[in-house]
Amino acid sequence: MFQVFLQSPPAGVLEERCFRSGVFSARSVPVFMMYNGQVRVGSGGLDMNLHFGGRDIGARTLEIVTEMKALEGALLPILHEVQAEFGYVPQEALPVIARELNLSRAEVHGVVTFYHDYRDHPTGRHVLKLCRAEACQSMGGAALEEKVKKLLGIDFHQTTLDGGVTLEPVYCLGLCSTAPAAMLDGEVHGRLDDAAIADLIAEVRL
Ligand code: FES
Repeated sequence: MFQVFLQSPPAGVLEERCFRSGVFSARSVPVFMMYNGQVRVGSGGLDMNLHFGGRDIGARTLEIVTEMKALEGALLPILHEVQAEFGYVPQEALPVIARELNLSRAEVHGVVTFYHDYRDHPTGRHVLKLCRAEACQSMGGAALEEKVKKLLGIDFHQTTLDGGVTLEPVYCLGLCSTAPAAMLDGEVHGRLDDAAIADLIAEVRL
């Protein structure tokens, strides 16, 4: 018999929607919330199968790896494709990638955490990336960051409680001449000030 409980409600979890499927870490729980996935519990822990709208992460990852593993330097494009598929790089994908590429799981994990573009957690419906590189910092980027964090009530790498917005740092968007800059859902915005960033956030929170 599998006992079900939440140890604590982590950031990004809507209590009223959580179906409390098991004992998971704070980082795992939003997976079930934001993708409305189903959980089939196996022998426990990381060996369980997670389903995203009917897709099995392990099986789909294997398909991706099989298609791409002949590429030179296959790891990065595979991780990119896995993230495109699921919106992030799920923990459950790592052992599959490691096994198929003859790497250790730690090596794959190291690459995922080294590159800022790879996420190890799901995002909200909108992704706001704030530039933290030098030009933007010199043009008020730090103050803008504080403003955004206050408006959203979250820090970098977090998602608002309603699952609406994920805030991420980025290191140069190529808009240095119009700093400070940000990217919202893939669209870049420059010369941001308090009013402009507040307008952007209001747009996605309607
Ligand atoms: S430093 Fe921010 S866009 Fe280049």
